[in-house]
Amino acid sequence: MADTSKTATLTFDNTSMELPILSPTAGPDVIDIRKLYGQGDVFTYDPGFTSTAACESTITFIDGEKGELLHRGYPIDQLASKSHYLEVCYLLLYGELPSAEQLEHFEFTITHHTMLHEQMQYFFRGFRRDAHPMAVMVGVVGAMAAFYHDSTDISDPRQREIASHRLIAKMPTIAAWAYKYSIGQPFVYPRNDLTYAENFLHMCFAVPAAEYKVDPILSRAMDRIFTLHADHEQNASTSTVRLASSSGANPFACIAAGIACLWGPAHGGANQACLEMLKEIGSPENIPEYIARAKDKEDPFRLMGFGHRVYKNFDPRATVMKQSADEVLDLLGVENNPILATAKELETQALADPYFAEKKLFPNVDFYSGIILEAMGFPTSMFTPIFALSRTVGWVSQWKEQLADPTMRIGRPRQLYTGAPYRDYVEVENR
Ligand code: CMC
Repeated sequence: MADTSKTATLTFDNTSMELPILSPTAGPDVIDIRKLYGQGDVFTYDPGFTSTAACESTITFIDGEKGELLHRGYPIDQLASKSHYLEVCYLLLYGELPSAEQLEHFEFTITHHTMLHEQMQYFFRGFRRDAHPMAVMVGVVGAMAAFYHDSTDISDPRQREIASHRLIAKMPTIAAWAYKYSIGQPFVYPRNDLTYAENFLHMCFAVPAAEYKVDPILSRAMDRIFTLHADHEQNASTSTVRLASSSGANPFACIAAGIACLWGPAHGGANQACLEMLKEIGSPENIPEYIARAKDKEDPFRLMGFGHRVYKNFDPRATVMKQSADEVLDLLGVENNPILATAKELETQALADPYFAEKKLFPNVDFYSGIILEAMGFPTSMFTPIFALSRTVGWVSQWKEQLADPTMRIGRPRQLYTGAPYRDYVEVENR
């Protein structure tokens, strides 16, 4: 619970109001304006919510200036190097690192929820083969409410927990099947003897005709991509999940809403957009032209994979992801790939350019995750689905936290109305 000993005074017209200040365990103080409209008859105006805390949360903390990302207090670089995805899932969902026994039980539970209801196959088959896998994921995850009726009652904590486990467990199967369907290959069923990351790679790249062995360096890199994307505080898709949930919607509908929001190129779609940009740049000698375009105010072009709303010095996830990118590129021996050569040179030139330094624009996590996924053989259309499956635990943890929060109310922002004032209807013949 936040400390509430300080207040702020707001003065406007002839009114003066005392507003409580809530002090968090970390980060800036928060002025509590909940009574502002009721007592002062004014709203606040904050498009993009750059100065607005919409909820209280104990899950993730970001210090954008320091480039710090903590999950339940633990720094992301320690989690990415010492822990693994399912342990981080447990931490996000339950608040503490698990004991060995708790972890074993959690891994068993998730592993034994990875299969999809067999009837869901026909749902996949209803899509066009060339459908974007994100479109398939929005549809299939939303449709889970039609398949798993016994975990849609949000007032029952046990049903909430089962829905959380199902979503974390089934998302890799859904993403892999969306991919398999798009390339016309048979669906590969999950296997209980594989880890979460191995299972995903197996479902994506195995075919019934041949044995597929998952390389441990690749499964480690995959697990890191999952871990580094697991949660990120109140970003656009998480806020979408919370807003959808505030109406009492079922968990599968809420997560489908989050996936839809993540798809946009300013958010989760940036990794795909970044790789497409690198392909368009083509080779290192074209980079100056694209850097010039990114700096030109008349040109809407932006360097995808650069910049971040919150991190203003560096993205701590990108630091770890860059190490992984180096490991994977070494293993796969793809130094001569023109896209990857272009990426390396773009990073060097942009970081040396005063425009990017002044605006604090640096490569973000999506810049490096795109490079790794490209090297692993994923098509660009799968980049955002992989982000979605990784972020599912974050969405689900925030959703669970919100439902247990006694201050939860339906989300209903207000507006600064600048349209026509009251006017009477005019019959068409008199206009
Ligand atoms: N290339 C060129 N200029 C940029 C870029 C960029 N990628 N990003 C920001 N700027 C400029 C922008 O033009 C503006 O300049 P000015 O002050 O002269 O008008 C200034 O930097 C501030 O930009 P902003 O749009 O006000 O910043 P924001 O916090 O609203 O946007 C962002 C953050 C991530 C949407 C933006 O940096 C961007 O569009 N980046 C490219 C897309 C991308 O890589 N997104 C992935 C983010 S990480 C994954 C995730 O968390 O979802």
